[in-house]
Parts: sequence; C-alpha cells; structure tokens
Amino acid sequence: MTNHFPPTFIWGSATAAAQIEGAAHLGGKEDSIWDAFSRIPGAVANGETPELAVDHYHRVPEDVAIMQRLGLDSYRFSTSWARVVPGGRAVNQQGLDFYSRLVDELQDAGILPWLTLYHWDLPQAIEEQGGWAARDTASRFADYAEAVYGALGDRVMHWTTFNEPFCSSILGYGAGVHAPGRQDPAATVAAIHHQHLAHGLAVNRLRELSATRAEPLQIGITLNLSNAIPLDPTDPVDLDAARRFDLLQNRIFLEPIVTGSYPDDAFSDLEQFGIRDVVKQGDLEVIATPIDFLGVNHYHDDQVSGHPDSTGSDGHSGATDRAISSPWIGSEHITFPSRGLPRTAMDWEVNPAGLTTLLLRLGREYPGIPPLYVTENGAAYDDVVADDGAVHDRERTAFVQAHVDAIADAIAGGADVRGYFVWSLLDNFEWSWGYDKRFGIVRVDYDSQERTIKDSGLAYSEIIRRAKADA
Ligand code: NOJ
Repeated sequence: MTNHFPPTFIWGSATAAAQIEGAAHLGGKEDSIWDAFSRIPGAVANGETPELAVDHYHRVPEDVAIMQRLGLDSYRFSTSWARVVPGGRAVNQQGLDFYSRLVDELQDAGILPWLTLYHWDLPQAIEEQGGWAARDTASRFADYAEAVYGALGDRVMHWTTFNEPFCSSILGYGAGVHAPGRQDPAATVAAIHHQHLAHGLAVNRLRELSATRAEPLQIGITLNLSNAIPLDPTDPVDLDAARRFDLLQNRIFLEPIVTGSYPDDAFSDLEQFGIRDVVKQGDLEVIATPIDFLGVNHYHDDQVSGHPDSTGSDGHSGATDRAISSPWIGSEHITFPSRGLPRTAMDWEVNPAGLTTLLLRLGREYPGIPPLYVTENGAAYDDVVADDGAVHDRERTAFVQAHVDAIADAIAGGADVRGYFVWSLLDNFEWSWGYDKRFGIVRVDYDSQERTIKDSGLAYSEIIRRAKADA
C-alpha cells in the first residue's frame, strides 16, 4: 500500500542551537549551562564541548542551501537563551541579529522557520541564581520570549516554548547526567513545575504581543513521549513500575498542559519532594492556556519491570534509561528488560510500530488534544565514509522510511498528525555523549566542517518528493 499524506503535511528536519552553532563565546554570547557543564571532567564523553560544534554560526547560507536541496518544507531550530540574553538580564542585539539573518535566509529559500525557544541552554548566570529550581526563572523566560518575538515575530509563525522538558528537568536536576548536573529531588520537582509555568507564561505573552496580527501565531510545546510496556502485564510489581515510568516520562509533562491538572499519582509519589509547595494557586490555569499543536519526539519505547534483576530475552537490561530509575524517585527501582529488537548506536530499540501506537493513543486518551507534529525522530549509527566519499547508511535510511510508514498508519487510523521532522539535519553535539553519536542525514567532517548528504538524506528527499506527488 502506498502511504498517503495530506498536501499540507509538513516535511522537515530539526537541530538545536547548542548542538550545531558553535561560536559559544562569540557575538556577545556567554556561557550556557551546557558550556559550563561540559567543562566538568567526565561530564561529557571525551571531554567534548559545544564550543565549535559544527560551526553553523558561520555557515548559515551553506546549511540553508542543503535544506533547499533536500526539498524540506520546514526547518526546526532553536534560539539560544544564552546568546539572546547572555548574562540573564540585558538583551544582546548581536544574538538577535544572527537569528534574524537565519530567518531571512530561510524565507528566501522558501523554508518555513519552526522556532523553539528552549532547547536546554539556560544562561549559566541564571543557573547561578537558582536555575529552574527558582520560580523567578519562569517569568524571566517569558521576558526572553518577548525579546525573540520582538526580533522575529514579523516572520516566524510557528513557536515552540520547550523541547523535551523531561530532559531539562529530570536528567539535569535529578539524574545529573545533563546540565546543570544536579542530583536533587526537590530541585527536580521544582524544575518540572517551573518549566511548565514558564511555558504557560510564554504562551500568554506571545498571544498578547501578537494580538493584532492578521494571522494568529501557531504556538505549541514539544514533549518526548514513549510507551511504557510492563514486562509481565499480570504482575503488580511490573505494572507499578510501568505506571511510575509513564508518570515521569509522559503524564507529568502532558497532563498539566492538555488537561489542566497533574495526575493524582504525581502528588502521591512526589509529595516527599515538595510538589505541593511549588504548585501555587492559579498556576495550572496559566499552564493549560490552549496551544495550537503538540510536538511529539519519539525514538523508542521501553519495556519496564519493577524487579531489580529482570533482564530481557538477550540478557540486556536497558542501562540507557537508568536515569529515570535513579534513586531520586524513591527506593523502588525500574529496569528495562530488552525485547530482543535491533538497536541503534544509542542502544535504543528500533520499533516503528511503537510510534503508531503512541500517536493513536494520544488522540484516544486525551480527547481535545491539539494537532500533533512529530518534531523529532531519527537514529544514531556508526557511519562509515565509503571509498566513493559517500555514506551508505542503510540502517538509518530504513529507520526513517519505517517511521514515515508508521506515521502514515497512524493517520490512516485516525490520528491528526500534520508533520514530521527528522532528527537531525546535521551530525552534531549529542549532549553528554559528545560528537561520536551521529544522528545527521548530512555528515559533518568535524575537522574540515565539510558537509556531505548521506544516503539517508537523499532517500528522505525522495520520500518528500513522492509524498507530494501522491498527495
Ligand atoms: C532529543 C533531543 O531533543 C535532541 O537534542 C537529541 O539530540 C535527540 N533527542 C537525540 O538524542
């Protein structure tokens, strides 16, 4: 069966400022928490930092030309708070000018800019004043959103407040494997709530600022969601592990925004970490301000067990997701027994059908949920440059095709999915993993900064061309 996508379906690719820009201390930019964190010995693989990254800061025209060659409808990128408001207070005009030039280039190339305000690079100066554990950071975020709107609001229609708040709260303040590297349960709970609040305040601020526009802005948030599959669905211990995982991975982020309340088990499980104190009266109304779309990032699902010694069919216990089972959520552990599926270089299971399930579930379980966009999906593999200079990345090519098919299945089943963005346009700085985990559909030679479209990029371009021809 051929896939059918509506003619308005948006085909794109995604990146994030700290992962590609470099120029970490140029043009008025100062340290973000990722610059500071990456200097801590052992924090990032091989001691790598975002200092140079893939030098996108100096290569915007070249990179936009690649997007155009691929035939992308849209480019999802983030603005760096640490570039726009370096010390946390005064706006840096040079930073805004950089993004303004990028948006102009995109417009000239006929590519829709899809802007994310927070993809994890908090100004270090704000972290030093409490970071996301401090309530005040939420209103500072709305001020930052206003500054970006002031420079780009005439040309950018699609605004995403946060990318994967799971990572910038739980991984950053709980597990300590992301910047700022804290391991503090109470700070984690505060960070979760304050990011929600910041989202709501920014949505309101953007609505106010754009009230007189003829065409209303499209505003949303991107969450990383994953199906939690109990190892033994008849075992209460595994079922409870799946519930706890689903709470911290999915529901605690989704429900305040789409239903206006935290799940009951957020209050019971996290009471000991002060959740009742950080949620103030009126916050949830702000957080649940209606949005126009929900971005869904999906890479893999997780089979979970509550038994500490559970391993999967191949003896694999899923160490990649250890963060969520770290002691801060209590003494009960969660393990991730393998289902024996193929894995990417991140050690993540490949299971495209999980994406179909997830997209259908969202519509079923949350009636009234806004339209969905898959804002990230992709795979890291250990690419090899062949003698002909090309990268014949068969596994990534198959991964992308299978996930595009999975979205088509979800649409055919009734899910309202309106776009797909491959992660990532370019090989880049994969956070604590450094530069070795390559997700790009375009290879970057980190010495010369030369870009080469991989086979997966060519195949994606063909997917887009065919989908449009068949629409
Ligand atoms: C999600 C994040 O948003 C992105 O920054 C990261 O590189 C990819 N996942 C791959 O891990």
